[in-house]
Parts: sequence; structure tokens; C-alpha cells
Amino acid sequence: MKFFIDSANVEDIKKAYKIGVLSGVTTNPSLVAKEGVKFEDRIEEILKLVPEVESVSAEVTPDAITAEEMIAEANELVKINGGDKNITIKVPMNIAGLETCRYLNQKGVKTNVTLVFTVNQALLAARAGATYVSPFLGRLDDISEDGVLLVSKIAELFRIHNLDAQIIAASVRHPDHVTRVAMAGAHIATVPYSVIEQLTKHPLTDQGMEKFAADWVKAPKN
Ligand code: E4P
Repeated sequence: MKFFIDSANVEDIKKAYKIGVLSGVTTNPSLVAKEGVKFEDRIEEILKLVPEVESVSAEVTPDAITAEEMIAEANELVKINGGDKNITIKVPMNIAGLETCRYLNQKGVKTNVTLVFTVNQALLAARAGATYVSPFLGRLDDISEDGVLLVSKIAELFRIHNLDAQIIAASVRHPDHVTRVAMAGAHIATVPYSVIEQLTKHPLTDQGMEKFAADWVKAPKN
């Protein structure tokens, strides 16, 4: 399973990129709004920061309701950073989003169908030509449903029917989500930097470091 970072924050993206684990970036209108910068400018900045990843998701805005409006926005977004091949257009899981997805797929532009909460939605997105589908597991857990189970069902469905779309496990809240979606067959987990940091930690690692440091003081030097 690959890691994407779920963030529009430049410092967090830089930190995750530096440690070599990053295969992509996902953003959404809420994440961009928190940053207080113009959407297109931030996407361009991110594309420049992480040239070696496979995908940077930029979502059509909530102002785009019809497929025509989504396509018009997508056609502008794909020009950012000189038509960067990594740009991935994120569209909502609805009829207009699927139509946009089909159009972009035919043009060879990568797409990420977001806000997926059922197996049927994932199947439709894959059939419309989505490069990525994003089930939001944390938000399902929030309403007492099993988000990881949804990811595992989608993974099984894609295997049975040989569907090419990659599953991005999204709305990941903690390290246990990461382990469980990896075991469930997600191709990618998109996670906030705070969770990436948590993944590196174990109390025995800290204790081990302290013990090494304490013993090293006693070691003869020269
Ligand atoms: C994914 O692409 C979304 O940006 C994200 O994972 C949503 O997560 P949230 O439920 O924590 O807002």
C-alpha cells in the first residue's frame, strides 16, 4: 500500500516528502480553505514541491454543480504548472461527477472520485473510468458503520471484476486504520501528517533510544 498525504499545508507536505514515503497528495475544499491562500496557487505550489509523486488531487469547487461546470473547472486546473501530468481532478460521487470523470478519462486526465460510502458507488466510479476511488472510512466510523469493511468489500469487488481503479482509503484518523486498510487491500491510504508521525512511534523505540544514549555515555572515547 502506498501513502498519500491528505493536506494542503506546504510544511506538512515537505516533511512527508523528505522521508521518502510519499506517492501523492490529496486536497479538498476544506483543507485548502484552512490555508488562507488561493486554491490554484496552492495546487501549483504543491505540484512544484513534489515532482516525483504519481498524483496531486485538486477538487472541483462546490460551486460547480453540473458536469459542464465541473468540466470547465477541470479544464482550467489541468493547465496549472504548465499542464503537469501529476494533476488529478477530484470529483464528487454523483451523476455530474461521473460524467466529468468519463470526459477526463477520455482525455487521458487522472481522476479521483471522492465521497464514496458504498460498494455500488465505487463500482460506478470504476466503470466511469476513475483512476482512483476514495472511500471515506473515518466518516463511516463516525456514524457507527464499519469503514474498513467497506474498503475490504471494494477491494474484493475490484479483484473479482478486474477493475483497474485504485482504492484510496480516505478519512483516515489513526494508525490502526492504516494497518487495517493495508490488510484489507487498499492500494493507497491518504493520511494527515500527524498520522504519518504517529506511525513512526512505539514506546519501546523511545525506551531503546534512551537506553542506548545512557550506555553510550559510559563507552570509552578515543
Ligand atoms: C480525502 O481525499 C479527503 O480529503 C479526506 O481524507 C477527508 O477526511 P476527513 O473525513 O478527515 O475530512
